[in-house]
Amino acid sequence: MTINTEHYWMPFTANRQFKARPRLMVGAQGMHYQAEDGRQILDGTAGLWCVNAGHAHPAIVSAVAEQAAAMDFAPPFQMSHPKAFEAASSLAAMAPAGLNRVFFCNSGSEAVDTALKMALAYHKLRGDALRTRLIGRERGYHGVGFGGIAVGGIAGNRKHFGPTLAGVDHLRHPLDLSRNAYSRGEPEHGAEIADEFEQRLLALHDPATVAALIVEPVQGSTGVIIPPKGYLQKLRSICDKYGILLIFDEVITGFGRLGTAFAADYFGVVPDIICCAKGLTNAAVPMGAVIVRQSIHDAFMQAAPENAIEFYHGYTYSAHPLACAAAIATLAVYRNENLFDRAANSAAAFEAAAHGLRGLPFVKDVRNLGLVCGIELESRPGKPGARAYEIFEQCFWEQGILIRTTGDIIALSPPLIISASQIEELFAGIAHCLKKLK
Ligand SMILES: Cc1ncc(COP(=O)(O)O)c(C=O)c1O
Repeated sequence: MTINTEHYWMPFTANRQFKARPRLMVGAQGMHYQAEDGRQILDGTAGLWCVNAGHAHPAIVSAVAEQAAAMDFAPPFQMSHPKAFEAASSLAAMAPAGLNRVFFCNSGSEAVDTALKMALAYHKLRGDALRTRLIGRERGYHGVGFGGIAVGGIAGNRKHFGPTLAGVDHLRHPLDLSRNAYSRGEPEHGAEIADEFEQRLLALHDPATVAALIVEPVQGSTGVIIPPKGYLQKLRSICDKYGILLIFDEVITGFGRLGTAFAADYFGVVPDIICCAKGLTNAAVPMGAVIVRQSIHDAFMQAAPENAIEFYHGYTYSAHPLACAAAIATLAVYRNENLFDRAANSAAAFEAAAHGLRGLPFVKDVRNLGLVCGIELESRPGKPGARAYEIFEQCFWEQGILIRTTGDIIALSPPLIISASQIEELFAGIAHCLKKLK
């Protein structure tokens, strides 16, 4: 297939390198993509942490097709359609108890910016207008909106875009290979890093000025950072102590990645607000959502007169009918096919296979939880990221496997339907490439 690659400016991609040898997918079914050259590619990343139920699930495909034929669009401001309410109810039913009001948007980035705005407005309308600070974490990824990059902690995503939001600070991330390398599941050491939130940041800024803390329960994009035992519980109790809202960015941990509906369920820590996207529609149609405690929602309702808009925020495509149809069908698939339990049941085999890479050339850590794992490599001197990129290319071209890399970390997050033999195939392919690494 000859295509003109000139005009498409690709996101988060080395455009010139890609265009020299494009990696193109033309089909997808279940656990596999079909590459342009006809090869089947085992999907080790659920697309981009999003196709949790596997590709082209018939129930989701037909729901989207039927909705496209029935009604393409309904305005979301001062108008709506029944599936918006149904999708919100389905999502609320899956969310942790107490979080049952849903605001729709189109992506994880929009979910984050929506949540941050809600947090700021919530304090303000309750008369707590001093609370304007937002706290994120180093190595946090919260998408690419100005709010998200401000609370995010990835240098490359921030440095070119000016000072972003004022009044933001960051907590240290909890990755500590000196104590926790090769942890299976939650690391033993590091819960005390959460104390810095209170002892350092809140002491510095005054807790009464902080609106919200936003964290990914498991940091994904910067290479799978799993919270140490007790760490998230501590963050929750510090937030409670000072009236600070806790936001979980569950864009990758939502919808079964850890073997539970949300990471909040896995860790037994319920935030005040959850941001989600990706697996919400199995990526069939873009959609994001912010799920909030009823009390937060109700504060907005009570603060405004009945005929006034309570929250000056929204998107043309909030609760888009196709996205709602996809979400309703996807959540039903998760429920009806017990996919979260299936992920939980596969987690031990996934862990064992991941840790089987220990000892291979340049592997310096393997960490895992549920159906996510990170394999960290020693960087080639002067060429950070080069080794992992080589593995990525070899996996794709020679092994027929899709993996994801960030710096010198390989991150795996397969669809929840991965079988035992596909787990073996995935890690055997990576092992094969690692053995050849220089
Ligand atoms: C934790 C987290 N938040 C937000 C986002 C941004 O989502 P989107 O790319 O849909 O805007 C991502 C994307 O990977 C993510 O991992």
